[in-house]
Amino acid sequence: MILHGPNLNMLGIREPEVYGHKNLQQINRAISKKADKLSLAVDIFQSNLEGELINYIHNGIDTYKGIIINPAGLTHYSIALRDALLTAKLPVIEVHLSNIYQREDFRHKSVIAPIAVGQISGLGYQGYLFALEKMKMILKEGSF
Ligand code: DQA
Repeated sequence: MILHGPNLNMLGIREPEVYGHKNLQQINRAISKKADKLSLAVDIFQSNLEGELINYIHNGIDTYKGIIINPAGLTHYSIALRDALLTAKLPVIEVHLSNIYQREDFRHKSVIAPIAVGQISGLGYQGYLFALEKMKMILKEGSF
């Protein structure tokens, strides 16, 4: 499961100097291509609504083997999203396009990171591709 949080549908238009020039469709194409290469099946979902992301996680518990998520603004405060990820008991990799530690203080804190296998921050859209590689390894090893 690949999840994109609020405002990521506006990539390409939204602060390209921070998030890059690719739009979400282009990023999703790169994700699908990489997943194919790794023989991983992925479904990609974006929502601007916290509850929709939570419902998607709940509904996917029995279907998916891992979660790669860019929680966007929810990263910094959504206990509800964190609780849903914990409920799923699946390996979670957190991805950020920008380096959140180089930015405003309020972006330095992630409530998701402590329950994730790890976090990739600041490597642009390629962060999702590295996350897929790591997810493949986690699934091969069968533990996280
Ligand atoms: C982001 C970083 C967040 O702080 C921000 O709210 C986003 C995008 C990133 O990918 O760099 O929406 O998650």
